[in-house]
Amino acid sequence: MLINENDVSKVLEQTDILALIGEHVALKRVGLRYVGLCPFHSENTPSFSVNAEEGFFYCFGCHASGDAISFVREIERMEFVPAVEYLASRAGIQLTYDSQGLSVHATKRSSLQSALSEAVEFYHERLVSSPDGEHARSYLASRGIDAKDWEKFRLGWAPDLPAGLFSHLKVSQEIFVDAGLGYLDKGGRPLDQLRARVIFPIFDASGKPVAFGGRVLPSSEEDASGQAGPKYKNSPETMLYSKRKTLYGLNLAKADVVSHGEIIICEGYTDVIAFFKAGIQRAVATCGTALTEDHLLKIKSFSKRITLAFDADKAGISATEKFYQWEKKHKLEIYVADLPDGIDPGELGQKDPARLIDAVSGARPLMAFRLERLFEEGGLSSIEGRARVVDEAIEIIAEHPNALVRNDYLMYVADKCRFEMKDLHLRLEKALRSGQFLRDQPEPHSRARSFVMADARTDSLEAPIQQRPISAEDLGLSDRPAIEGLRMLVHNTEEMSEFFPLVLFTHPTHRSLRIAIEGVTSISEASIRAEAAGREAKELFIRLAVEAPSADPFDVVSRLVERGVNRRLEHMKLQARSLEPSSNELMELSSELSRIRLLQEGLRSAGNQRIDATGQLLVWLMKSEAEG
Ligand code: UTP
Ligand code: MN
Repeated sequence: MLINENDVSKVLEQTDILALIGEHVALKRVGLRYVGLCPFHSENTPSFSVNAEEGFFYCFGCHASGDAISFVREIERMEFVPAVEYLASRAGIQLTYDSQGLSVHATKRSSLQSALSEAVEFYHERLVSSPDGEHARSYLASRGIDAKDWEKFRLGWAPDLPAGLFSHLKVSQEIFVDAGLGYLDKGGRPLDQLRARVIFPIFDASGKPVAFGGRVLPSSEEDASGQAGPKYKNSPETMLYSKRKTLYGLNLAKADVVSHGEIIICEGYTDVIAFFKAGIQRAVATCGTALTEDHLLKIKSFSKRITLAFDADKAGISATEKFYQWEKKHKLEIYVADLPDGIDPGELGQKDPARLIDAVSGARPLMAFRLERLFEEGGLSSIEGRARVVDEAIEIIAEHPNALVRNDYLMYVADKCRFEMKDLHLRLEKALRSGQFLRDQPEPHSRARSFVMADARTDSLEAPIQQRPISAEDLGLSDRPAIEGLRMLVHNTEEMSEFFPLVLFTHPTHRSLRIAIEGVTSISEASIRAEAAGREAKELFIRLAVEAPSADPFDVVSRLVERGVNRRLEHMKLQARSLEPSSNELMELSSELSRIRLLQEGLRSAGNQRIDATGQLLVWLMKSEAEG
């Protein structure tokens, strides 16, 4: 490993895992734990649990588990080192490395981050107070975007200078270019990416800037010279910015999304701003890219209901089939807002905010929306027209993967077009046979995950790593005293070690976990050791780590000792049988047996006598195990 191990522990200790996971999952407190919907598999009832104190998460449904590092690796699909570096920069920890000095990666990440933050401030300052920002100010004002909105969305103005930003930032050319802020001209001189544009900074879910969008002013838009370029120019992809994963406004919308159980997805910056201004603070934008599955993965644990607020006929969602697949795969409900034709939310919000609110409350499921569009296009007045509409409707219905849903909509179409259901059924069957529709495929087997699986992760979420699921027997979960004992050990290894020696455990997973955590001084160290001890040990460790012990340690030790002694006695009885009658060994053995029997009675008494007997038997067990 490249990063110093002490630093890894430090990063884990100083990461607020609740805040980290809270950026992706809506967590609710239940007793000592926090629970929510698992971001790694689809579910309707929360089985994802976080132990904030110990810094672990565990999903009782899909067995995803781990600490803050594995969470980042899974959710951001990062390698180990970048994941640690990401957490270190969040926690403000300067990492040291075992070899190669400072990792290029970590320094870079944080340099890019601070360059972007400074750029946000630079542009914003220009918009708010510099004389050359006047055009931008009046343009925004003319669109109803006022100073309060500039603050909230950190809007800015990029001056019309070749390298205004570069000369302001005190960063290297390399950082400047790699942050996506500019590029080098043929002569190797750095130039700003965005010039003479209104700036919309793009933040990640935690509120860190990752990119910018810049809009030309209308005057330059009309400039016949063509110098102004496209209406919007966006940062290129960088180490910090991936277009297909980023949703503009998510940092601001998150809380409202969770409390309303709905997220509105629109196309552009000004659409998001219009929703917020209309009092609907749960809108985000894809900003010039089509909605991707990666986007949905980012938000599905916040909300199951997605309301699309853009024209369904536009390229973005013309391929609706994949939407149905996603709905099914991620247990989402996709709705389409009821926007008037030819007007986007940005414009509608400025003209008629009440109508924008209605568009959201009047949203319909995607399938219903498409069928209604079809009916509205007309043609239902003639028999031929109705037959044509039916054919098109059947094509639309055939895309849906669920037979029950298809049937429901088929009835609706039959009713609307006044045809016999059985005729439509035949047509639908035919369409299904001829088309390549993906329907009613069995759910892929739920992924067996463990803390360690991230090591082998591939880039594709479509190809999850298939491992044999770990069963309760593999973990020896039914052995309550042993499990409770291990739980105490895991949470407090240093203090508990002497009470729970290896000899008390028999199940192979219990034993390997017990061996793995011998001598550790912190739970994060224990986690690293458990990881090395294999899948089962790690899985058990995580299960134990998410819930603090509640039993009385002495009780647990006593029960384990009692069992251990019984086992040992059985063993001795077997030994006795193979010894010569009246041999010295046999005499010794039987006197030891009677001593132990006496102590065993002590175990069944109370108070000091019991404590005493437990202690003596424990010592005896360890000694006799050592002797073999
Ligand atoms: P629109 O053309 O609908 O722009 O593009 P808009 O958001 O309504 O902006 P205004 O109201 O005219 O100012 C939607 C989104 O697509 C991206 C931008 O993210 C924009 O917000 N886009 C658009 C580009 O990236 N480049 C472009 O040239 C145009
Ligand atoms: Mn638009």
